[in-house]
Amino acid sequence: MRWFTLYIAGIVITLHASVIKPIPTEIKVDIRKAELGKRLFFDPILSKDNTVSCATCHDLQSGGDDGLQFSFGIKGAKGSMNTPTVYNAVFNFRQFWDGRAKDLKEQVTGPIENPVEMGHNFEELVEKLKYHPIYKKLFKSIYEEGVSKENIADSIAEYEKRLITPNSPFDRYLKGDENAISEQAKEGYLLFKYKGCIICHNGVNIGGNLYNRFGIYKDTNSTEMGRYNITKREEDKFVFRVPSLRNVALTAPYMHDGRFKTLREAVVFMTQYQLGRYMEEEEIDAIVVFLKTLTGELPSDIGRVP
Ligand code: HEC
Ligand code: HEC
Repeated sequence: MRWFTLYIAGIVITLHASVIKPIPTEIKVDIRKAELGKRLFFDPILSKDNTVSCATCHDLQSGGDDGLQFSFGIKGAKGSMNTPTVYNAVFNFRQFWDGRAKDLKEQVTGPIENPVEMGHNFEELVEKLKYHPIYKKLFKSIYEEGVSKENIADSIAEYEKRLITPNSPFDRYLKGDENAISEQAKEGYLLFKYKGCIICHNGVNIGGNLYNRFGIYKDTNSTEMGRYNITKREEDKFVFRVPSLRNVALTAPYMHDGRFKTLREAVVFMTQYQLGRYMEEEEIDAIVVFLKTLTGELPSDIGRVP
């Protein structure tokens, strides 16, 4: 059964089973850059007042986010978007909920200069690191020009490439291990396909590779405008990057505004607002069980640098 057909809103859609792909077990990284990037990822030196690191909001021990509706930056400042996980972010086609950064490297400059996150500016940060006994040497040993904005971003992005979570039960199932997931999870996967979730959530990240409107059949009362902020086009109002569902069981609360505490609520909402469907309790249960099989293995090097 390599091809399957969906009937959504009177339209016939035929998709290939491989629209969802397993996470590769490894991607090549430059070890020295990644080691430097890791040190920076955990170091509050990146923030203006040395209190907040990337790991403050992206806790690698618990899903790569912080479990809060909105995160706190320097001096207790509160953000307005839910923190997504950094795990598998490398596979997203653009970064951020509205896709404003084209890749991980471009993304890094966002939080460092965001006043409600790290509140720093690169001129000062580069100076700070240039005179730092450890960083001065590390940057020089890897990059000819030493510390620079470009190299700070480059090394952190290199580390983030290691933050991938292969071998989830579902990936093992995709690769042919029939016993890797339960019968109920298989049922959930069928529903995920035939009810149409897979139209938006597909690819390696089961999301993260296209934009869509938040709320197709009903108004979601979102106060954030999404892509509209960037393009100013009417049709981009409330359009967001479809989020990845990898490790979704670990990344509550859900949606760009963190409005739901449980996965079940998020799934029920999706069926009604994105698909205009009603689903039975058991169908929702099965989809939730399926989503839980998307939790992969954490990488080995996520401990803080001593
Ligand atoms: C104060 C909390 C906070 C800090 C500190 C922080 N982030 Fe984030 N991060 C967020 C929020 C919130 C978003 C989503 C913002 C948006 O989409 O508008 C985000 C988004 C991201 C994304 C995009 C993920 C995706 O799915 O689009 C990556 C990657 C990321 N951060 C990495 C980092 C790195 C690297 C650092 C350190 C340089 C960092 N973050 C520091 C809160 C934080
Ligand atoms: C038409 C596209 C579309 C369809 C179909 C769709 N989704 Fe979504 N999904 C989205 C978008 C867009 C978001 C992000 C909404 C936002 O801006 O907060 C999302 C968010 C989610 C989230 C929250 C993820 C997080 O990290 O916050 C879950 C869980 C989810 N979808 C599951 C499903 C399930 C299960 C189905 C099928 C019942 C489904 N989706 C159908 C587009 C879609």
